[in-house]
Amino acid sequence: MKIIIVSSTQQMTQLGADMFTQVLGEKPNAVLGLATGSSPLPVYQELISRHKKGAVSFKDARAFLLDEYAGLSADHPEGYRNFIKREFASGVDFQEGAVQGPMGDADDVYQAARDYEESIVASGGVDLQILGIGTDGHIGFNEPGGSLSSPSHVEYLTEQTRIDNARFFDNDFNQVPTRAITQGLATISRAKKIVLVAQGAQKSQAVAQMIEGGVSALWPASILQFHNDATILLDEAAASQLQNTAFYRAIAEAEALLN
Ligand code: GLP
Repeated sequence: MKIIIVSSTQQMTQLGADMFTQVLGEKPNAVLGLATGSSPLPVYQELISRHKKGAVSFKDARAFLLDEYAGLSADHPEGYRNFIKREFASGVDFQEGAVQGPMGDADDVYQAARDYEESIVASGGVDLQILGIGTDGHIGFNEPGGSLSSPSHVEYLTEQTRIDNARFFDNDFNQVPTRAITQGLATISRAKKIVLVAQGAQKSQAVAQMIEGGVSALWPASILQFHNDATILLDEAAASQLQNTAFYRAIAEAEALLN
């Protein structure tokens, strides 16, 4: 893992956006993995701004969403396909149909999850996946206790996740769906490159477990310890429960990762 502790959101945003810009520069028809949630938003905004300046294009790229609530109607504003269209895709030049997400509104969500996995495999695989992390250590919607080698699947959401996400549903826990379709931990692990962004003290325990804890289904993000090209961008608060920060900072300095 490449652990970078940034001093500002601006720095985190630039580094995250640089990774997308670089991958698309090298491979214009790259397959991107897109996360929802608040954490990646500044990176998406920066990419929209770079696109407007002509610095990056998505016209030959494709993208797969990480996850989608089950049971929301296709036009629900908090559905992740709508979220990503509103917050990112509509601001850049993806071609019609280039951004796909799991069909959480399907009659058979289990079949929809299997179909989604097949589509990702058929695309040749994700070149760059951006991730956030849940306070319970989930990535995508892979909740604690699930298989560390899962393909895309239907997942029941923990009470903590539903409490965390109630802010998107009029602060009403009961409106938050109980299930989601998510790329599995095996699916995510197959991405060639991963960047995870985390901000705030509420993420610090999950971040510490992900980086310095044992690999465990209890902290699903810890699976990233097995990935050989995962970059973790943290602010000071999210990094505050890590033990080896001096070492991570020394490496970042030696490698000029923050320049
Ligand atoms: C959501 C999403 C995750 C996201 C996480 C953190 O439930 N399914 O993909 O990473 O929770 O969200 P946020 O970035 O808003 O804190």
